[in-house]
Amino acid sequence: MTGEGVLDLSERLKKAENNCRVSAGQVYGRLYRVNGLCLEARGCVLSTGQRCLIGDDNGVKLEAEVVGFDGGRLFLMPLEPPTSLRSGDWVMPIRTGSRIPVGDELLGRVIDGTGKPLDGLGAIDTKVSTPLESEIINPLRRRPISEPLNVGVRAINAMLTVGKGQRLGLFAGSGVGKSVLLGMMTRYTSAEVTVVGLVGERGREVREFIEHSLGEEGLRRAVVVAAPADSSPVMRLRASRLCHRIAEYFRDQGKDVLLLMDSLTRFAQAQREIALAVGEPPATKGYPPSVFSMLPALVERAGNGENQQGSMTAFYTVLSEGDDQQDPIADAARAILDGHFVLSRELAESGHYPAIDVEQSVSRVMPQVVDKQHLDRALKFRKTLSLYSRNKELLTLGAYRQGTDPEIDQAFSLYPSMSNMLTQGMFEASDFDESVQQLHNLW
Ligand SMILES: Nc1ncnc2c1ncn2[C@@H]1O[C@H](COP(=O)(O)OP(=O)(O)O)[C@@H](O)[C@H]1O
Ligand SMILES: [Mg+2]
Repeated sequence: MTGEGVLDLSERLKKAENNCRVSAGQVYGRLYRVNGLCLEARGCVLSTGQRCLIGDDNGVKLEAEVVGFDGGRLFLMPLEPPTSLRSGDWVMPIRTGSRIPVGDELLGRVIDGTGKPLDGLGAIDTKVSTPLESEIINPLRRRPISEPLNVGVRAINAMLTVGKGQRLGLFAGSGVGKSVLLGMMTRYTSAEVTVVGLVGERGREVREFIEHSLGEEGLRRAVVVAAPADSSPVMRLRASRLCHRIAEYFRDQGKDVLLLMDSLTRFAQAQREIALAVGEPPATKGYPPSVFSMLPALVERAGNGENQQGSMTAFYTVLSEGDDQQDPIADAARAILDGHFVLSRELAESGHYPAIDVEQSVSRVMPQVVDKQHLDRALKFRKTLSLYSRNKELLTLGAYRQGTDPEIDQAFSLYPSMSNMLTQGMFEASDFDESVQQLHNLW
């Protein structure tokens, strides 16, 4: 063979090789089984948390997320309610990582768990997008909690002072004024941005909260992420993570952010639905173990940033009926949060709003963020209040005679002004200094 022939052959081979090279094909899987909310696919490899599309010859039917696998069987959970699925429908992975839009354009908007607008005000055109999951800040590098945050509510500012970067639980049953209280905080706090996560509420309540509790004033510097009860559990989990991610974004921009999430219990229930559907055994009161590891993973994301960053203070509502101490989610929440505020049905029924039961509530960082005089006064208030509640039965029964004990006498005479200080109208703001002043004015 001549030299020329060899060259010719190698060139031809190269050309042929180029022609053979095709882009890596998209691997489709097939839908194999539908078991309640859980879909089973086979034939494609995806990682947990990855999203995929399901469809047939007529097009895409819905979007789903991988929630587990067993060998080659993939367990998927749809983001929308599944309709008319068939065995053999294709399952196509979405290769692009899930990114969410963030930026000032989000302020005043209501979005769902994937970041899509729900308020009919058109597309949200943000310049920045970020992955849904964030890097965890080393707890030792977080700035310690040292400054108070004005939440606009007198009973909290004066008696249960919240620190910037604190994580709190708001424990309450239904109808005792949670939404109204969250709305007041959104409107009157001095935090620069408020992010509200409405997870697992009824659809009607979401609307009511936005229209009445939040109003135009509250919405202006707030972002609302809503995944009502009728949305899929995956969507509810996503909404919970999304509101944290958005709050983290604003915190990293150096802002003081207040995150209000209603509710942590519904977040736990969404995870329970998913875990049970993929076969995790229930452990505590029907909750599988994964729920108890996901709660701290979510809550730990709130808190202060590193030196240059702002702060992220978070309130999580926890559904609990007064003396039901058995609820495992309430128990877990108490252990992982830096304080719990209890809303009492008894106070609400007597028209004492906000129905915060100061005696049962505690802000664990208060001593770190207020001055000594303030702390002393708050302690004195607590003592007097407790003296009053322990003896009020005696007074109503006529079994106590004035003058028997000067301290009890004082508690009785002070109680009306104390109670007055703790109550606040829905549309009345109270800043930090005014709240503390009112506490000092009592004595
Ligand atoms: N600060 C307040 N002042 C007056 N009424 C209030 C106040 N907070 C709550 N309420 C009353 O309590 C009702 C229930 O409050 P809501 O926040 O919807 O409860 P929840 O969210 O806990 O179910 C409200 O409709 C309102 O009448
Ligand atoms: Mg409510």
